[in-house]
Amino acid sequence: MKKLMIVVILAVSIIATGYQFKDVVSNPPVTSDFTEAPTEVREIMRASCYDCHSNETKISFYNKLPIIAELVKKDVEEGRAKLNFSEWDKYSEKEKKTILYNILTKIKKNIMPPKGYSFIHPEAEISDQGLIAIETYIKGLDNSLGVKNSNKDELEFENDYNHWTNNKNKKKVVKNAPNGIAFPNDYRSWQVVSSSFRKDNNTLRVILGNDIAIKAINENKINPWPDGAILGKVVWNQRSDENWEAAIIPSSFIHAEFMFKDSKKFENTKDWGWARWVGEELAPFGKNPSFTQSCIECHTPVKNRDYVFSTPSIFP
Ligand code: HEC
Ligand code: HEC
Repeated sequence: MKKLMIVVILAVSIIATGYQFKDVVSNPPVTSDFTEAPTEVREIMRASCYDCHSNETKISFYNKLPIIAELVKKDVEEGRAKLNFSEWDKYSEKEKKTILYNILTKIKKNIMPPKGYSFIHPEAEISDQGLIAIETYIKGLDNSLGVKNSNKDELEFENDYNHWTNNKNKKKVVKNAPNGIAFPNDYRSWQVVSSSFRKDNNTLRVILGNDIAIKAINENKINPWPDGAILGKVVWNQRSDENWEAAIIPSSFIHAEFMFKDSKKFENTKDWGWARWVGEELAPFGKNPSFTQSCIECHTPVKNRDYVFSTPSIFP
């Protein structure tokens, strides 16, 4: 079946193009490699990911056919831009950790390697045992939660407290997001849906819902979420509490972001309007409306949950 498909694709491409073979992608120099990972993990990445995520792309003859060549080129260029094992050293320790967690999610959700690729390269399929090796390696990296030392925290605590008392009631004028969505000023009065802590970049998050979202949760009608529901996420840096060393608490504000459900208005962006405001000045995120692509891409692992990650926490 597979062979037949390939033969058909080949035949069509050859006829359509008159046998013109093209150069597809070049391989820039390999400046570093993923050497810090255990051999087993490295071998899996090499076999399953390097064609698109390294400067050691292997091009077979049928990849050189026009039409196919264009698709391959696009994959490799986009793949390398997002993750390139041949330039591993250029990432900071923090970026590496984020990428590694991203890798784990994409493999577990069967998003990477892409289905079309493993169809033609069955050897790229990752075995259960391979996945265990990858997961053990990546999860083993977060022994330290990056809690800062307490002297500094005491000062920060003082600063945070003063900052809060001084700014509590200040009103701000906030610009619309590049896709025209206005900042939901009333979000401070919404209810808590859930919270999370991100191990790779040490940030604390609270997930909020407007009245319609909370009503939907209480009636257990959240897949799909009803039109009018808005979910928010507020993100802070973390630090330890100088009054309770074991605790991790929010520190400086990073950003607030929102998903506005409207299956008509936002039909083209998976029925949600996406928007983020950054820093205490609440500057709109993104240069133009296409910033929503990055939101959607990362929320795709949960597309069968209406693109929402958070499960409402238990409030008995
Ligand atoms: C056929 C080419 C191809 C192969 C093989 C491939 N990828 Fe990808 N990968 C892409 C493309 C294209 C993107 C960018 C578009 C996207 O995010 O869907 C991407 C994106 C990613 C991202 C997202 C990075 C980010 O910052 O959002 C991760 C992580 C990833 N790939 C990991 C892997 C891993 C791990 C493997 C091997 C198990 C793999 N990929 C195999 C093409 C490929
Ligand atoms: C790198 C991946 C990633 C990107 C990019 C991303 N998100 Fe999310 N988002 C998440 C994860 C994971 C959660 C689950 C809560 C958590 O752990 O922070 C989440 C949660 C949310 C929530 C709370 C509802 C839910 O799904 O749980 C909102 C609202 C949200 N994101 C909006 C956005 C917007 C708007 C953008 C684009 C500007 C965006 N996100 C980009 C990963 C991402």
